[in-house]
Amino acid sequence: MSRMKKMNIAIYPGSFDPLTLGHMDVIHRAAAMFNTLYVSVLNNKEKSPLFSIAERVTILKEATKDIPNVSVDSFSGLLVHNAHEKDAHIIIRGLRAITDFDYELQIAQTNKILSKGEIDTVFLSTSLEYAYLSSSSVRQIASFNGDISMCVLPFVAEQIYQKYGFSKKPVEEEHHE
Ligand code: PNS
Repeated sequence: MSRMKKMNIAIYPGSFDPLTLGHMDVIHRAAAMFNTLYVSVLNNKEKSPLFSIAERVTILKEATKDIPNVSVDSFSGLLVHNAHEKDAHIIIRGLRAITDFDYELQIAQTNKILSKGEIDTVFLSTSLEYAYLSSSSVRQIASFNGDISMCVLPFVAEQIYQKYGFSKKPVEEEHHE
């Protein structure tokens, strides 16, 4: 019974650099399963990011403003400490393909041990239409002014192109006769 109560709060951690439609798919589905869903941006100073932590939090807040049980913030240090502060006993992660599995299983098992068995990870299989998507491929496509409209929300695409010094719309492909 107490276990059921604990499952009411979940945390979905990630870099979200940038937030993709694959992340949004996981957020919508997890928010439907748990009373409260925290979406927490990892503040990892070692990476050289496209968006600052504050920008990513602002983007996530805008993207989730119509989902009342979602709260967005950022964290540094260990995820299990952050989850503990929030009284969250479930970590949400999306699984796109078997290639994600090794890495994700290792993190899940480490977090389980670090939390002395208190925190479990729930994997949501990414919906098929987003299975190919990754933040790094979105960054790469946008850096060459390619079309990312099928990968991210329109307002996010706009901000990504701005980061790379492009106008809102990607350059039209040239057609050679
Ligand atoms: O979106 P990402 O970059 O794949 O997310 C990775 C994340 C944030 C889940 C992971 O790097 C993380 O939890 N980092 C915090 C440090 C931590 O708790 N490490 C212990 C588990 S290996």
